[in-house]
Amino acid sequence: MTTSDRILEKAQQINTVIEQFLPKEEGKQKVLLEAMNYTMKGGGKRIRPMLMQETYRLFGGKETVIEPFMVAIEMIHTYSLIHDDLPALDNDDYRRGRKTAHVVYGEDIAILSGDGLLNYAFEVAASTFDTYGVREEIARALMVLTKKPGIYGMIAGQTVDVIMTGKALTLEELCYIHELKTAAMIEASMMIGAILAGASNEQVKEVEEIARLVGVAFQIQDDILDYTGTDEQLGKPSHSDEKNDKTTFVSIKGIEASQKEVEEMSQKAIEKLRKLPGDKEFLEGLIKSLIYRKK
Ligand code: IPE
Ligand code: IPE
Ligand code: MG
Ligand code: MG
Ligand code: MG
Repeated sequence: MTTSDRILEKAQQINTVIEQFLPKEEGKQKVLLEAMNYTMKGGGKRIRPMLMQETYRLFGGKETVIEPFMVAIEMIHTYSLIHDDLPALDNDDYRRGRKTAHVVYGEDIAILSGDGLLNYAFEVAASTFDTYGVREEIARALMVLTKKPGIYGMIAGQTVDVIMTGKALTLEELCYIHELKTAAMIEASMMIGAILAGASNEQVKEVEEIARLVGVAFQIQDDILDYTGTDEQLGKPSHSDEKNDKTTFVSIKGIEASQKEVEEMSQKAIEKLRKLPGDKEFLEGLIKSLIYRKK
């Protein structure tokens, strides 16, 4: 089986896990739960849960305790997309191959469905205390899950992204945004995998650095695809950055230099990954596949 077949197969398996944790669409707030599930079930790549699971395996993790955390990170990511697409932010009406939540359910329910996913993510992750016992590594994983998407992480990055819209940025400022708005969530994914598998503090630090490189490269590639891709291929509107007058890697450095940056950062991440213990073959293939991804 090729790496891309294995990636697709793993995404399917992750979809099955996600299904098990989605809320039942019932009760007076049914429309909220439908809206949450609507965006969760759209065709996302599931990169974050995949990276989490593979990092968990790398450090010898074998339990199902990882699954609620995989679902939680995807819920937080999905909430960030729902809010990112709102008219007040990027104002995009297409996501994961479908109309965005605010187009289908209205802005009010879309905002609440994002709130719902963020909060439910923590309910799902914290439920592992009941199922697996009050363990220290679960508490440490929860701390990462609360912090990285937060006001010193993803939300900070989104804030600077939004307030700097229409303004020229230096490469350094742009890297700051990319590190926070995107890499922080990749860091959380891989760190939680390592922590739950019992990796040492030094190993978790190494994983954080690898994930930072993967995450910034991922966002640069997203900027490239925004410029070069089509709506059908991406499942979201291309040229959204141009429309919103955002400074991106492409607008500062051009396509070729941006592509080179993605390759170099990914290569650096792979070199660091090779120094870690365990079977890294799939994880390495996954990181390489992200360099040349078309969606
Ligand atoms: C989109 O993330 C937002 C970014 C951080 C670039 P993905 O490209 O992982 O989106 P999905 O989950 O596959 O829809
Ligand atoms: C958003 O970056 C990253 C998030 C934290 C959601 P973009 O605005 O470039 O993501 P897309 O292109 O809409 O997926
Ligand atoms: Mg945005
Ligand atoms: Mg956007
Ligand atoms: Mg983008």
